[in-house]
Amino acid sequence: MVSSMSTPEITAGLPLFGEERAVRAVAEVEAQAAKSISIEDVSVSYALGRAARRSVLENISLEIEEGEFVVLLGETGCGKSTLLRMLLGQERPTEGTISVAGSKVERVDARSGYVPQRYSLFPDRTVLDNLMMGPLTSNYHILGRLRPSFWGARRAVREEAFRQLAHMGLQASDAGKYPHQLSGGMQQRVAIAQALMMKNRVLLMDEAFSALDPSTRGSLQRLLRSVWSETRPTVVFVTHNTAEALFLGTRVIVLARESKDDACGSRVALDMKLAEGGMTLRSHGQEFLDLVEHIEAVSNGGRLTDLSGRRTALDRCGEDSGLAGRVGVFHEVGETR
Ligand SMILES: Nc1ncnc2c1ncn2[C@@H]1O[C@H](COP(=O)(O)OP(=O)(O)OP(=O)(O)O)[C@@H](O)[C@H]1O
Ligand SMILES: [Mg+2]
Repeated sequence: MVSSMSTPEITAGLPLFGEERAVRAVAEVEAQAAKSISIEDVSVSYALGRAARRSVLENISLEIEEGEFVVLLGETGCGKSTLLRMLLGQERPTEGTISVAGSKVERVDARSGYVPQRYSLFPDRTVLDNLMMGPLTSNYHILGRLRPSFWGARRAVREEAFRQLAHMGLQASDAGKYPHQLSGGMQQRVAIAQALMMKNRVLLMDEAFSALDPSTRGSLQRLLRSVWSETRPTVVFVTHNTAEALFLGTRVIVLARESKDDACGSRVALDMKLAEGGMTLRSHGQEFLDLVEHIEAVSNGGRLTDLSGRRTALDRCGEDSGLAGRVGVFHEVGETR
C-alpha cells in the first residue's frame, strides 16, 4: 500500500530536482488515505412529477478521518439513509463526489460493511449460512473452492460465525434457524454480526439498534464501542437516539433542512467532535444534558439565532468544566459555511 511506504523508499533514485515534488506527492497520498471518507459538495434530489424535483441533500461536504466514529442524527426524512446509501455506492449523488480511502465510490463498495435500516438477511438460508456467505464469497470464487485451503478457511469462518453469534447474545442453537424463525430483534443482531464478520475498515450502520429492547440495546452499544476501540474501523452510524450518539460517537453530525420547501434539502446543521466519546448521563451529568438539549434543538430545525440561550449555556459549561477540551469543532448552519 502506498500509504505504508516511507518517503525515502519512494524517492530513492529520483533526480534531486524531482525529490521535493515526490515528497509532496507522497504526503498528498498519505493525507488522502488518512481521510477514510470524503464527501465533496454532494447534493441529492429526486424527480417529483414531471417538472419539479424534491431536494433531499444540499451541498454536503465532509471529511471523515480513518478511525472516526461518526453518528448521524436528524429528523425523519432528512436524508440520513440516503447519505449512507451514497457512501455504500448503492445510489449515486445527483451532484458532487464521494470517495472512500482515496478512490471514488461508483458502485456498491465491498470495502464497506453495511447494516441497512431494514435488515436484509437471505430468507432461504440459515443464520449460519447468512453469516458465512460474505467472507466465503468475497475470498473464494467457485473454482477457488476446489482448493484444499478452502476447507481450512471455511472452518475458521465457521468458528468466527459462532463467536459473533455469542457476542450478539444469540445461542449456538440459533445458527440452524431461518430468518422467519427469529424475532425482529434477533434478525437485527444477525445482520450486525453479518457486517462484523467482514472486518471492513468502513462500517455503515443505519439505525442498527432500533428494534432492540433497552437492555439488549445497551449491551450491543457497549459491544460495538469495544469492537471499535480494538480495531478502530471508520464507522458512520445513524440513529434517532441522542444519548446513544453521545455514548458511541467521537463525532456527531446533525442534518437538518432550513425549510419544509421541496426545493430545500438538508445541510450539515451541526458538526461536533467529541475527543473522548463514551459520554453518559452518569459520567457527565449536566454537561451531557446540555449537549442532548442542544443537539435536539438543532435537529428539530433550531436556527443559530434561536439557540443563543442554549449556546451560552453550552459555552459556559465548556469553560467551567473542561467540556471545551472535548468539543473540538463546533459549527452550525450559517456559522462557518
Ligand atoms: N429513491 C427515492 N425516490 C424518491 N424519493 C426518495 C428516494 N429515496 C429517498 N427518498 C426521499 O428522500 C427523503 C429522505 O429519505 P431517507 O430515507 O434518507 O430519510 P431518513 O433521514 O433516513 O429518515 P428516517 O429517519 O425516517 O429513516 C424522503 O423524503 C424520501 O421519501
Ligand atoms: Mg432512514
